[in-house]
Amino acid sequence: MTDRKGIILAGGSGTRLYPITHSLSKQLLPLYDKPMIYYPLSVLMLAGLREIAIITTPEDQDQFRRLLRDGSQWGMRFEYITQARPEGLAQAYILAEDFLGGAASTMVLGDNIFYGHDLPQLLKRAGSRPEGGTVFGYQVRDPERYGVVSFDREGTVLSIEEKPAKPRSNFAVTGIYVLDGSAPARARAVRPSERGELEITEVLTSYLSDGLLNVERMGRGFAWLDTGTHASLLDAGNFVRMIEERQNVKIGCPEEIAFSEGWIDEAALRTLSQLYLKTEYGQYLVRIADGG
Ligand code: TTP
Repeated sequence: MTDRKGIILAGGSGTRLYPITHSLSKQLLPLYDKPMIYYPLSVLMLAGLREIAIITTPEDQDQFRRLLRDGSQWGMRFEYITQARPEGLAQAYILAEDFLGGAASTMVLGDNIFYGHDLPQLLKRAGSRPEGGTVFGYQVRDPERYGVVSFDREGTVLSIEEKPAKPRSNFAVTGIYVLDGSAPARARAVRPSERGELEITEVLTSYLSDGLLNVERMGRGFAWLDTGTHASLLDAGNFVRMIEERQNVKIGCPEEIAFSEGWIDEAALRTLSQLYLKTEYGQYLVRIADGG
């Protein structure tokens, strides 16, 4: 079986962040001390994935390439795919079909921030299921704003609905989708919704109808943060700053994860640190190379 691959969906129009996102991709905006896309990228790296497709708008792709290059500097491989128009999350699977080549995938939304104990284990467990799909449910105050998943005591999924007026649970579907190799075929069968998008909920419903949808709860030990509005972007940045200053560690540092996974060696980490020596980020990389 081909190894599972990663997808970061980093297109979209970012209209809720205008005027900032008129000329800049949301996923390149700073989230405290690093570009936003470092965080979802780190999630995929923590899941053990080294081959990743980065889906962007045609206009923004060059900037993503300049930032992230081909991935080899971190012992990875990146493939860049353009999405001509923001026609929905499910379209990612159609655009990435050749890249996936039948492999299973873990997709993360480029503007979703996750932080919590045992996240790598949670992702690896979901990724080890040979068949079907897994979503992560997170309890929220305002489920009607999200895709909502309801499930029974055993964790069997009962329903999945996009922005329901009367939610059947308080669990929102977060922006990580762990799906098997049938996702592109399922996405191709989806018809555009009233808002003109290929809805990810439809792909998940297709898994559910086949009895192949699993849900994992992200409990209160996890933070799932949104960055889609001015206030939530600032809040997420402050959250990262608080944790990083308090614990003296970095959240979402690709160089650190690549090193700890053994994808790059100490010499490579030191070379990377030279790029940023004027910043605390660069000094942090030196500290990691020195052994912590
Ligand atoms: P959204 O926040 O739903 O949309 P958006 O980023 O375009 O922002 P706004 O609502 O302010 O206009 O998107 C969630 C994530 O998915 C975000 O990282 C952008 C990405 N995305 C795509 O890459 N392609 C798409 O077709 C859509 C709808 C979203």
